[in-house]
Amino acid sequence: MQQDRRPRQDELLRVTGLKKYFPIRKGFGKKITAMVKAVDDVSFGIFKGETLGLVGESGCGKTTTARLIMQAYLPTAGRIELRRSSGEMQNLAELDARGLHELRRELQMVFQDPYSSLNPRMTVRELLSEPLAIHRIGTKSERERRVEEMLELIGLQPEYMNRYPHAFSGGQRQRLGIARAIIMNPSLIVCDEPVSALDVSVQAQILNLLQDLQDKLGLTYLFIAHDLSVVRHICDRVAVMYVGKIVELADTESLFTAPLHPYTEALLSAVPASSPDLKKDRILLRGEVADPASPPRGCYFHPRCLYVQEKCRTEEPKLRVLKGKPGRFTKCHRADELELRGVPSFSEVSLA
Ligand SMILES: Nc1ncnc2c1ncn2[C@@H]1O[C@H](COP(=O)(O)OP(=O)(O)OP(=O)(O)O)[C@@H](O)[C@H]1O
Ligand SMILES: [Mg+2]
Repeated sequence: MQQDRRPRQDELLRVTGLKKYFPIRKGFGKKITAMVKAVDDVSFGIFKGETLGLVGESGCGKTTTARLIMQAYLPTAGRIELRRSSGEMQNLAELDARGLHELRRELQMVFQDPYSSLNPRMTVRELLSEPLAIHRIGTKSERERRVEEMLELIGLQPEYMNRYPHAFSGGQRQRLGIARAIIMNPSLIVCDEPVSALDVSVQAQILNLLQDLQDKLGLTYLFIAHDLSVVRHICDRVAVMYVGKIVELADTESLFTAPLHPYTEALLSAVPASSPDLKKDRILLRGEVADPASPPRGCYFHPRCLYVQEKCRTEEPKLRVLKGKPGRFTKCHRADELELRGVPSFSEVSLA
């Protein structure tokens, strides 16, 4: 992938040519009959202090990408590099067991389901101090103080320390999930659908908390979501995935107001519009998402694309930067000639 607008030295994480194929086994011999290409040649960088969104329909490979970054899966191919405190980029595949243990402090995750991600048998004190204890950070009383500090940061009373997760609401539990992630002072937090399981009224509070914490602590997020309005609210840049591949990557405002990939256009047209006039033009995505075990030839999106041409059926487009549009990547043969429809910019929305 070509250079983004910002220099590579500002990147905290760089993913290059990342692939994860899962074998499908059938029959008595459990023979491998096909491969699910869950993540297929994905490259992107995350700048220090930014929030990069990762969006796309169910099954497009968002969680698999997250798990690869978290070192929960071994990649089929590709590299993941993280900038260490020395300033050097480190290829995570080269770490030994001890190095990996150390790395876990720097990479933390916030999960979708705040009910199942917290051990119901542990008190808040135990839940939050456990990661510190595992990494032998501080004395017992220092850890206790750090837990109190975290509770204050996430807006929960210190008296809650002795309570169990079931005593909290969904939003409060997600606050605890966030506290457990940031207590380690990580350099990157991967949030996988962190507000999807919450009531709409609580979603905004959690998003605001994530943003406040980012401002206060200089955090960097990879933010995975289905909901494009959530993504628009919180992300600096957005990568759109389709069947294991990134099809568009851009700064949030450009991507929303002037998308460069027909798939992004279709996703945006499904965002609830602020004005009823806009709703009339909704593009409905035709057909089914391609099967990642046997994707179509050419551009994977071509069977559903409104702008399909012969070339799209036979030749897979490359993810490229468009001429005159630095920092904007698209994987569409026709991106230069198409004029795709976005949604109004934030300022227009607020005027409406
Ligand atoms: N452990 C696994 N074994 C086999 N196939 C898997 C495994 N994990 C994921 N897959 C497949 O890989 C593809 C990508 O899955 P993934 O969970 O990454 O998607 P996702 O974008 O996170 O979807 P959702 O929005 O539903 O969370 C899917 O086709 C899924 O069925
Ligand atoms: Mg997922």
